Amino acid sequence: MAATPHDIRPETFTHDPALHSAPTSNGAQSHNRNPAAQVSVRNVWKIFGPQPERIMTLLEANASKGAAPDTAGHIVAVRNISFDVQAGETFVVMGLSGSGKSTLLRCLPRLIDPTRGEILIDGQDVAHMDKHALRDLRRHRVSMVFQHFGLLPHRRVVDNVAYGLEVQGVKRAERLEKARAMIELVNLSGWEDYYPSQLSGGMQQRVGLARALAVDPEILLFDEPFSALDPLIRREMQDELIALQARVHKTLIFITHDFAEAVKLGTHIAIMKDGELVQVGSAADLILRPASRYVEEFTQDVPKLRVLSARSVMQPLYGPPPQGMPVAATLSLERCLPVVLQAQDLVPVTDATGAVVGTIARASLLTALHLNA
Ligand SMILES: Nc1ncnc2c1ncn2[C@@H]1O[C@H](COP(=O)(O)OP(=O)(O)OP(=O)(O)O)[C@@H](O)[C@H]1O
Ligand SMILES: [Mg+2]
Repeated sequence: MAATPHDIRPETFTHDPALHSAPTSNGAQSHNRNPAAQVSVRNVWKIFGPQPERIMTLLEANASKGAAPDTAGHIVAVRNISFDVQAGETFVVMGLSGSGKSTLLRCLPRLIDPTRGEILIDGQDVAHMDKHALRDLRRHRVSMVFQHFGLLPHRRVVDNVAYGLEVQGVKRAERLEKARAMIELVNLSGWEDYYPSQLSGGMQQRVGLARALAVDPEILLFDEPFSALDPLIRREMQDELIALQARVHKTLIFITHDFAEAVKLGTHIAIMKDGELVQVGSAADLILRPASRYVEEFTQDVPKLRVLSARSVMQPLYGPPPQGMPVAATLSLERCLPVVLQAQDLVPVTDATGAVVGTIARASLLTALHLNA
């Protein structure tokens, strides 16, 4: 279920077109690689079936003609996807069931080999990693958290959390010490010696999270980790993940079906449809400038006034700043609206230092919200 409106923080991120290029009309990304990205996905395809190479060649040959080749017996799960993820951000991937989200995520550490394309992690191409480098990547640098927890039922909580360290060959005393610290981090102290089946769903997912964090990875991949939880617990877990991320500053790539969850957690949100990426942007980009009806439908139920901030609707400042009561760029539109409606003139928008960085006009605000001026 969707998070309730009061969960949702107004967005504070402005879309940076240098990082995420707009989809072209056929849904493909015209992509400029950002060398600073921690994860860079470039023109990745994944075709399931007996002859993926043959289908790929057909698709490449047909790309310029625009005609759809016969892909019978195959599933093109991921189609020419490109995006960049910056270190420390939470990058959310959304899309309906079967749109290719899990396949895409599993391609990143090469749990699945992409049919085409490049995946760079810290500038290193995972396709060219040998067995040792890949093992190092999966054991030390990238961890996964799954929807159904994936815990080992016959191991105590503490041994589940220590599992990744055990695989790394870390000595028992050291791994148990680290595991206990992670258990504390996810607020499960006191449950170390219980077995997974003795824990609630939310607690089991905390164990999954602690296990992923125990190896101190740079990147955490989440495949719908909260989807199996009831709404209250789910909200609690989202809040805890936000609090945790503020402490650990990992790079998170997070799959969800739920746009409210995407808005709450995501720095950027990527929307997938039928294996393609249809739009990448901040929540405000998707809400105010949806690339298609499909994207618009995802955004329809979010409480726009709470999700959007003054920054997302302001115009840049031209000339001297207007007089009058300012609003902070991070203020939600819900709280801006009364000020803007009462103002006689343009309303100044200020940044954290108090400098005027833009203005809001009543008419443009109402237009952005699809309200009649
Ligand atoms: N191992 C596989 N072999 C064949 N087809 C597969 C395989 N894995 C996924 N697919 C197909 O690829 C497509 C994308 O599946 P994927 O699991 O990536 O979707 P998803 O967006 O994660 O869906 P959901 O939201 O239901 O988890 C689907 O049509 C699926 O049937
Ligand atoms: Mg999936």
